[in-house]
Amino acid sequence: MVNQQIIEVQQVQKKFGDELVVADVSFNVQAGEIFGLLGPNGAGKTTLLKMMTTLLRQDSGTIRLNGYDTLTQARAVRQQFGLTGQTAMIDQELSARENLIIFGRLNGLNRNTAKARADELLRDFSLEHSAQRPLSTFSGGMRRRLDLAVSLISRPKILFLDEPTTGLDPRTRSEMWTAIRQLVRQGSTVVLTTQYLEEADQLADRIALLDHGRLKALGPVTALKQQVGGLKLQLALAQAQATQPAQRIMTQLTTQPVQVSDRDRLSTIGCKRCNAGDGPDS
Ligand SMILES: Nc1ncnc2c1ncn2[C@@H]1O[C@H](COP(=O)(O)OP(=O)(O)OP(=O)(O)O)[C@@H](O)[C@H]1O
Ligand SMILES: [Mg+2]
Repeated sequence: MVNQQIIEVQQVQKKFGDELVVADVSFNVQAGEIFGLLGPNGAGKTTLLKMMTTLLRQDSGTIRLNGYDTLTQARAVRQQFGLTGQTAMIDQELSARENLIIFGRLNGLNRNTAKARADELLRDFSLEHSAQRPLSTFSGGMRRRLDLAVSLISRPKILFLDEPTTGLDPRTRSEMWTAIRQLVRQGSTVVLTTQYLEEADQLADRIALLDHGRLKALGPVTALKQQVGGLKLQLALAQAQATQPAQRIMTQLTTQPVQVSDRDRLSTIGCKRCNAGDGPDS
């Protein structure tokens, strides 16, 4: 399993009308790693993910999952992965456990196996105490964890997560990170998209940095930071009164201007384009 290339993306290209959305992108994902697709809005992350999961066809290039070609062996490819973002398919009036059992049955498990799998997943994602509550009473973070659990029912080898933590508060985000790390320890390979360098840094073994559909860098996050040169340190503070002390510390760390902005009662302090070596980076 070590170093086995479980996903191969070769010279993939996709246009929407005249717009080149994914341009000649190539990379491999190794079995057992967390691979991050990092990039700003519109970079082409979701489009790439859709092509890797047979939801979209590329114009040219090849994608293989576990050796199966996404264009010519789509059915076999679909058996290799789980994909999050299925919230719309989950019934709000039913409980988490009932939803998981239904998805288990839809995935071909018999009644008893579906129940056992549901209980196992509820335990893995710390949802056992809320298992009987209707989903309409779940918080955003609980829903995301349930989403993740649903996509794992059939024990896929590969898991695709499209922005798994966008919109979550810092504590729930870190719970999701823990859940994702645990999946990898259990033998899954994870491909996730994110707009946050911090998330890629915390989670991913390697990342592909995309911008305007082009692959700008590929490799471990540390190597990539040196490659791109400019770093950005951003702090999200839980308490507004921490703003001034944090600003003082950041000013000591960098010669660059420190910016302060307030959003949703969180204060964000950023130093744009710190040079590598200016201090700790995000
Ligand atoms: N079905 C579509 N038809 C036309 N253009 C599309 C379609 N889907 C995506 N695009 C365009 O392709 C580009 C890449 O979109 P994509 O959703 O892949 O970006 P992304 O990196 O996932 O961005 P975000 O961070 O906002 O999710 C964007 O310019 C988008 O407008
Ligand atoms: Mg997207």
